[in-house]
Amino acid sequence: TKLAGVMGGSVTHSRSPLLHQFWLRQLGVNGAYVPLPVAHPAGFEEAVRGLAQAGFQGANVTIPYKEAACALCDDLTPVARRAGAVNTLQFTRGDNGALRILGDSTDGEGFLASLERHGVWLRPGERVLVLGAGGAARAITAALLEQGLDVLVSNRTLERAQQLVAPVTRGGVGGGQVVPWDAWPGCLSGEGVRPVRVLVQATSLGMKPGAQPDWAGALAVAPANMVVADIVYTPLQTPLLQAALARGLKTVDGLGMLMEQAVPGFERWFGQRPEVDATTRALLLESL
Ligand code: ATR
Repeated sequence: TKLAGVMGGSVTHSRSPLLHQFWLRQLGVNGAYVPLPVAHPAGFEEAVRGLAQAGFQGANVTIPYKEAACALCDDLTPVARRAGAVNTLQFTRGDNGALRILGDSTDGEGFLASLERHGVWLRPGERVLVLGAGGAARAITAALLEQGLDVLVSNRTLERAQQLVAPVTRGGVGGGQVVPWDAWPGCLSGEGVRPVRVLVQATSLGMKPGAQPDWAGALAVAPANMVVADIVYTPLQTPLLQAALARGLKTVDGLGMLMEQAVPGFERWFGQRPEVDATTRALLLESL
């Protein structure tokens, strides 16, 4: 039996077990995917090494351990190195039998895959505006930069956006331009020269009712072919996506990224690539 799971401070609300167990059954894989709560940061590294000892193939990592997981990896994918955080661990054995831990950051790749599923294929040099500077914004920005995209980052707290785009060696992702929070709507049209191709809402706005930015006002000046993506999936139709639909823009909700980010881990641990389809989506919709 191949084993994997999700490690985090609190994993009771994680949809990962539901998703992976569904794929295991669907593909007939002899495996299990379990919730792995880790209560104390001091015990995280021991928990990771213990899982490897116990024969686990690897694990997903969620809040608050993504940075700690990155620090203990022997190898990192380029996007994980850039993001300084990992959500996917794979345990392998070197030639001498010693444990090697590989870390990957699949949130950004998952986000790009969810765009592609909506027929949106970004070419290097195209402009993307990311709203937010938390963990999700960071992983997405890292992946966009790896793809050679032109990234603008805007956040309510300017300093966090500046920290995010700082060189990798100073704890940032090493690229992107900062736009002040009150100035991002003015960037959308790019005066027709550098219009924004995709607007990514990567803050927690939209999860909470109450004060929202004037989304409709901002989108009024957006290019007609701009795609609006929101990473929030509770609710699925966020105030931003509602405004985008009213304006007739193409929208991408957060459920796609949630499903797609799980694919690379499943493939690494269980040896088969699951398909993200309407059935997967319905399964998650039911769980919201
Ligand atoms: P995570 O790491 O899980 O993404 P986080 O670090 O708390 O979570 O980030 C939440 C994001 O939502 C931040 O970009 C935050 O902006 P600040 O850095 O200024 O705090 C953003 N956010 C939350 N509430 C917001 C609001 N009412 N208006 C604008 N941005 C908001």
